[in-house]
Amino acid sequence: MTHQRKGEGRTVLITGASAGIGMALSHVFARRGYAIILVARRKDRLDALKAQLEAVHGVRAFSLPADLAKIEAPDEIMEALHAFGLPIDALVNNAGYNLRGATPDNPWAAKRDMLQAMAIAPYALTHLLLPAMRERKFGRILNVASVVGLLPGGGANTLYSGVKAMQVAFSEALHIDERKHGIHVTALCPGLTYSEFHDVDGSRAQMQKLPKFLWHTSESVAEAGYAALDRNAMICVPGLFYRTGIAAARMLPRRLANRIAARIARGAR
Ligand SMILES: NC(=O)c1ccc[n+]([C@@H]2O[C@H](COP(=O)([O-])OP(=O)(O)OC[C@H]3O[C@@H](n4cnc5c(N)ncnc54)[C@H](OP(=O)(O)O)[C@@H]3O)[C@@H](O)[C@H]2O)c1
Repeated sequence: MTHQRKGEGRTVLITGASAGIGMALSHVFARRGYAIILVARRKDRLDALKAQLEAVHGVRAFSLPADLAKIEAPDEIMEALHAFGLPIDALVNNAGYNLRGATPDNPWAAKRDMLQAMAIAPYALTHLLLPAMRERKFGRILNVASVVGLLPGGGANTLYSGVKAMQVAFSEALHIDERKHGIHVTALCPGLTYSEFHDVDGSRAQMQKLPKFLWHTSESVAEAGYAALDRNAMICVPGLFYRTGIAAARMLPRRLANRIAARIARGAR
């Protein structure tokens, strides 16, 4: 007797699938039988991953290169999906990166691109894909935020903390609104995770000095996120250390928490 996998007949679109947590999530969904649509800028990586997912998990996979910092990207993705002819059952808004520094430290164009890729594009994709999910009374939306989004601002990485806080609040509101439509929404809030993230933002040498127990693998974060989405948890913080730390930080008076966050941020600069 053949065993029916949970995601068989379903399709997930994953942004930022060419590396790190997004790549790990594509394996997690594919293992459950989902067809996978892979979005990121590096086409060669997506093509290689598509071949790997098809060979290892026996699912259909599609490479859909896009730069989410481009204002037209969400509409172009919708057009491409139409051509694939696959309805989207699950959306993973994962693509992201950090621009280190205080507000004027980077050119405005770089900040604008970051807002477009990490705030506007995920919101647009959600907005565009939700109606069909509601119609079919089934949907799964996983927004990859960060523990940073659950903590008060501490200076440094100003825009990153703001965008992550927005992703958390947006996910919470969406979770409440969409429950009655059979749509699960989860904000995945990882702490430090091994991926290309700290190479991209140039902090690898500094971050490597931090103790090993603070680090998770992309694979373990992806598994935790999938499980949380499956049971419709509103927020998922992988790892006991981070869960306890967040709970404690949220009980502190805001100004004291800001001061502690500022000290940690100064140490990470
Ligand atoms: N690593 C951590 O410690 C950590 C902790 C908490 C939260 N997170 C969050 O986890 C998510 C995934 O990050 P990661 O750690 O897996 O980093 P990563 O290994 O650097 O992967 C980032 C992914 O985002 C894609 N991406 C970046 N800019 C893009 C754009 N303009 N358009 C399309 N795709 C874009 C990259 O692909 P291309 O370069 O090919 O476009 C890549 O696939 C991010 O939202 C990040 O904020 C990470």
